[in-house]
Amino acid sequence: MRDATPQTIYLKDYKVPEFLIDKTNLVFDLNEDYCRVSSSLAIRRNPASQSSSASLFLHGGKDLDLQCIEVDDCPLNDDQYQRTEDGLIINHVPDNAVINIEVLIKPHLNTTMMGLYKSRTMYCTQCEAEGFRNITFYLDRPDVMSEFTTKLIADKHQFPVLLSNGNPLDQGELDNGRHFVTWHDPFKKPAYLFALVAGDLSVVEDSFTTCTNREILLQIFVESKDLNKCDHAMLSLKKSMRWDEQTYGREYDLDRFMIVAVDDFNMGAMENKGLNIFNTSAVLANPKTTTDAAFQRVEGIVAHEYFHNWSGNRVTCRDWFQLSLKEGFTVYRDSQFSADMNSSVVKRIEDVSYLRTYQFAEDAGPMSHPVQPDAYMEINNFYTLTVYEKGAEVVGMIHSLLGDAKFRQGSDLYFSRHDGQAVTIEEFVSAMEEVSGLDLKQFRRWYKQSGTPVVNVQSSYDAEAKTYSLNFNQSCPTTSGQSHKKPFFIPIKLGLVDANGQDLPLNSQGDQSIVFSLYSNSQTLVFENIQQPPVPSLLRGFSAPIKLDYNYTSDELAHLMAHDSDGFNRWDAGQKLSLLVLNRLIDDAKAKRELVMDQQLITVFGELLKDHSLDPAMVNLMLQLPSEAQLHEQAETIYVDAIHGAREFARQSIATALQEQLVATYKRLTDNQDYAPEAQQIGRRSLRNCVLGYLMQVETVGPELAWQQFNDASNMTDKAAALSALVNCQAADSYAVKALHAFEQDYADETLAMNLWLQIQATSKLNNGLERVKDLMGHPAFSINNPNKARSLLGAFCSANPVNFHHQDGSGYGFLQQQIIALNALNPQVAARLVTPLTRWKKLPEPNRQLMRDALQQISNHKGLVKDIQEIVTKSL
Ligand code: BES
Ligand code: ZN
Repeated sequence: MRDATPQTIYLKDYKVPEFLIDKTNLVFDLNEDYCRVSSSLAIRRNPASQSSSASLFLHGGKDLDLQCIEVDDCPLNDDQYQRTEDGLIINHVPDNAVINIEVLIKPHLNTTMMGLYKSRTMYCTQCEAEGFRNITFYLDRPDVMSEFTTKLIADKHQFPVLLSNGNPLDQGELDNGRHFVTWHDPFKKPAYLFALVAGDLSVVEDSFTTCTNREILLQIFVESKDLNKCDHAMLSLKKSMRWDEQTYGREYDLDRFMIVAVDDFNMGAMENKGLNIFNTSAVLANPKTTTDAAFQRVEGIVAHEYFHNWSGNRVTCRDWFQLSLKEGFTVYRDSQFSADMNSSVVKRIEDVSYLRTYQFAEDAGPMSHPVQPDAYMEINNFYTLTVYEKGAEVVGMIHSLLGDAKFRQGSDLYFSRHDGQAVTIEEFVSAMEEVSGLDLKQFRRWYKQSGTPVVNVQSSYDAEAKTYSLNFNQSCPTTSGQSHKKPFFIPIKLGLVDANGQDLPLNSQGDQSIVFSLYSNSQTLVFENIQQPPVPSLLRGFSAPIKLDYNYTSDELAHLMAHDSDGFNRWDAGQKLSLLVLNRLIDDAKAKRELVMDQQLITVFGELLKDHSLDPAMVNLMLQLPSEAQLHEQAETIYVDAIHGAREFARQSIATALQEQLVATYKRLTDNQDYAPEAQQIGRRSLRNCVLGYLMQVETVGPELAWQQFNDASNMTDKAAALSALVNCQAADSYAVKALHAFEQDYADETLAMNLWLQIQATSKLNNGLERVKDLMGHPAFSINNPNKARSLLGAFCSANPVNFHHQDGSGYGFLQQQIIALNALNPQVAARLVTPLTRWKKLPEPNRQLMRDALQQISNHKGLVKDIQEIVTKSL
């Protein structure tokens, strides 16, 4: 696992494979301390290749213990093949041949969670992106698609359940208490979609009848203790299957669909053909142990992985530069689904604030890259917010440019034309272009240019001519590796709101919202017959992933907040208003001036609380001040303490001024309905807990209320919110101690709930955060080997506890540096993701800036750094 100088891989160097693998036969003989993997590959020289004599290269990691290779049943001598750094070369291979290979691997020693590894008592695999090469020698690239047959052999008592992709073909008993099961997957697939599972698992079963009346067996495999946490995932799966039929005309293809839950997993979940493997955190849910947010995450991830069956598996990627082809599109599909299942405005707001906070920060930092990157060292570092979330926004823009009907035609054409193929983003865009007749040439820049475009808008009103003009200017900041950007094609949905709060008709058809196409650096839009200067409502629904800059007054924002017909922009106006207020407070805090709260924001928030006709979910979102992470993103320089202090001051002022309404709202939303993770209830709970958060600023009310809620809570959402409120409040200290203890007693056996317990403490803004985290590292609920636990404690502290992590003595940075080094040897992927907070050092003032940089430098100096971390550290220094 020691990487010398990592190579950069370039998109421009793509070449078709020299060989194809038509059939792949695998036998896994699982033993106590090794696994024998025998493969038989029916290979064929690729007719599309330029060369007719190239050697056969197979990828393979250093840990493969090669036993023998045969070409057409003839064993090869040592001089007939060469092992290289990353694989195996066989010379003089016939144009058609069968290659037999036998290797031994040690899954029980594999801590990387790539390839075949052990999670607690079971074996499982994770092959995307390049994990299959740690299982056996293979053409491990997504444009090599093969028909897989897989035989699993293991001890029957320890591993009664043996699973792989597709359908079971055969099974039987063997000597010594062993048994076997053979699986066959009729659909050709790249190796990254291969999976196997062996374990002592319980199963929840259901069935789904497809639109052509085929009955599909649905199975969720879990450890028996988790059988009571599968209903929500099963329901989500059935909803997803129906939705994909109705919305995209996509029917499921195999006879069974299996999900397996594993505790040790680097990501959320993986779409292996017919055998999805899920992190327990992404599939298990139960009201007693799971928050609303986690319920919604389960629904979204189940849908996402299911949708990949078409967008990713049936039509896959040619190479990893095309990752957004499947991920961006599938994130777009899962967010459409979640919007349909819940509240679409709420979902849109959540997605956009996530994108703006984290993707915008990524795109402005040292790892900035286009949705279609053109180079990488380690592909695992490119499963990013840009590829996923910005990629999804780009698909969303195509959808709105084409309209529903054409977009559906385009996706139908894409799926039918490329079924069974490994294709590029270009193929997707071309299909959309073809059905619509639109020219998307300029639009394609969204895939190739990195950075968040900024659109500055200036308005002017001509009282005599009764015209209102909007002048748009776009620019895009320099990002790593890209200094000159060509103008983007930016669809800007907008409306004009009059003094009464009504939308003005914008054209002769009377449209109240139009989409303005900004394609050059500067353009002006003129409206005629405008009797009074209106307030522009710009970028409705966040119609493009840009920063829109318009000099609103706070009165204009309050007006939009109250009246905009676009729900998203009502919320966004509130955010902009809060930002105006917070930025002033931050400046005052930096200059050590006395902080004075803006009264207008308080008035507006008071009105929101009074208006019972509003959707509680929306009121919650509108009452949320921009997060500290969001404030960091938009700041030129991150003054951590000033930002924190200003925001806390605003919360305190709001709470004090609106105490009565807050208490009344809290009471109004208190009910004893049976828990259901559905939008309406979730909205009520979110507002009630938001109000509780504010009330924590009122010492005489908050602590008591939170303690009571902690004890009365019948669901994890309310329990965790109360716990979090208590551990973030100095005045509630004695309750916090009791609550943490009670929680620990009650949920000691609930791994996921204990992870939440760790996370809540890791993000407490009270002093001595690092000490708390260090203590918790010694708690039995923590283990650095488990990615969920590493993220809940270490990840949460470093990325979601700014005041403690950025302590001026640099202790947070030194701590993170140590943890990264510890994880470097264990789990490169988890380690690499943990580095992110340090990469933003340029945005911090001294002394933090230098301290962060030192920590990065120390990491960089470490001998034997894996390439995952090397790539990030090198690009950041
Ligand atoms: N294909 C990915 C899983 C994956 C990611 C494998 C990176 C290997 C490396 C999967 O479809 C995915 O995107 N999962 C997301 C959740 C999803 C809802 C965005 C994840 O795991 O976080
Ligand atoms: Zn995905």
